Amino acid sequence: MYNIQYGKQTIYEDDINLVVETLKSDYLTTGPKVKEFEEALAKRLNFKYVVAVSNGTVALHLASIVLLNQGDRVITTPNSFVATANSIIYQKAKPIFVDIDNNGLINLDLVEEKLKKEKIKALYLVSFSGLQVDEKKVKYLKEKYNVKILFDNAHFIGKDNGVCDIATYSFHPVKHITTFEGGAIATNDEKIYKRLLKLRNHGIYKDEKMFVWEYKMVELGYNYRLSDVASAMGLSQLNKLDYFQQRRHEIAKRYHEKLDLESLYEYNPNSSYHLFVVRYPFKDLKQKNQFFIKMRKKGIYLQYHYIPINSQPFYAKKGYRYSKEEFPIMDKYYLEAFSLPIYPSLSEDEQDYVIEYLNILKNEF
Ligand SMILES: Cc1ncc(COP(=O)(O)O)c(C=O)c1O
Repeated sequence: MYNIQYGKQTIYEDDINLVVETLKSDYLTTGPKVKEFEEALAKRLNFKYVVAVSNGTVALHLASIVLLNQGDRVITTPNSFVATANSIIYQKAKPIFVDIDNNGLINLDLVEEKLKKEKIKALYLVSFSGLQVDEKKVKYLKEKYNVKILFDNAHFIGKDNGVCDIATYSFHPVKHITTFEGGAIATNDEKIYKRLLKLRNHGIYKDEKMFVWEYKMVELGYNYRLSDVASAMGLSQLNKLDYFQQRRHEIAKRYHEKLDLESLYEYNPNSSYHLFVVRYPFKDLKQKNQFFIKMRKKGIYLQYHYIPINSQPFYAKKGYRYSKEEFPIMDKYYLEAFSLPIYPSLSEDEQDYVIEYLNILKNEF
C-alpha cells in the first residue's frame, strides 16, 4: 500500500556524500560551509546578505527583534503556520489579523483600510503556498504608510525584487530544500545584517582588530546558529533547486489537467508550489475530517493549511478572533481547503493514485 504524505524531502547520494565529507572535516558547527551556503543563497534569492539560522521560526524571531519594539502593532494573516504570528508576540508586540483573498493570501485592500485607521509598525506577509503577494501594492503601502515589510517566505524560494526589509526562509524537510531543521534571514540592509550576525550568536561582537580569543557581548542574543553539516546539506540541495522546481510545476500542471476538484488558483508559472491546495464545499468540519480519514485509509495523507491562527486556543483566549463576522473568507477557506501531496519525488503512479481516489471519494460526499 502507498504511504503518500503531502510533502517530504528529496535527498540524493551527492547530498549524503557532502554531509559525510563535512562530518569528516574539522568543523561540525560554524565552519566554511555556513558562509558558502549563505553566499549561494544570497545569489539565488537576489539579496545582498543572508544569515543562516537553525530554523524558520528563529529566523522570524530575530527578524522581529530587529523590526519591532514592545507594544508595536503588526498586520498579519490568519492563514499561516502559527510561527508567523508567534514571532510578533515574542517581541511583546501585537498581531492584527486581516482576512484573506480567495487565493489564500492576505487581502491587501483590507490591509490598507486598517492602515488608514491605525498606527501600524510592520506588515508580516506570507507567500502562502509559493505565491507572492502583489509587490507593487506592497511597495505603495510601504511608502504611503511608512511601515516595515517582512516576507515570510517559508513557502517561496524565487528571486526577490527588493520590496521587503527582511525575508525569512525555512528549510524544514517539507520545504523547497532541506537542511533537516534550518532557516535563513535575508536583507539588503547592511546594518540589519550586522545586527543579525550578533543576535544569532549570543549578541557577541568580534572584529579583525580584536585578538581571535577575544569576544564582546553587546546585547542579548541567542544560539540560533546553523551547523556546518546542515549547511553542507543546504549547499548540495541548492544545486538541485531548479530540478525541484521543475518537478513541482509538472505535478501542479498534472493536477490541473486530471483532477476533478477546484484548485485554489489557476496554474501559475510564478508560484513555487510549496503547496497544492484544492477546495471542496464540505458541509462542516466533521464531514471534512471524514474525508481525510477515508483518504488516510488509502495511504493518502491530506493536510490543513491552515487552521486560522487567531482561532487557535492561545489566540482566541486573548481575543484575537474579534467578531464572528470579521473573517468570512478565511472561515470558508478553512472549511473547504486542503493540501494534496506535492514534492519532487512524487511519482506519476503515486500522483495518479491520489487523483483516482480523490475523484472517487469526491462523488461519495
Ligand atoms: C509560513 C511558515 N512560517 C514559518 C515556519 C516555521 O519554520 P520552521 O518549521 O523551520 O521553524 C513555517 C514552517 O512550517 C511556515 O510554513
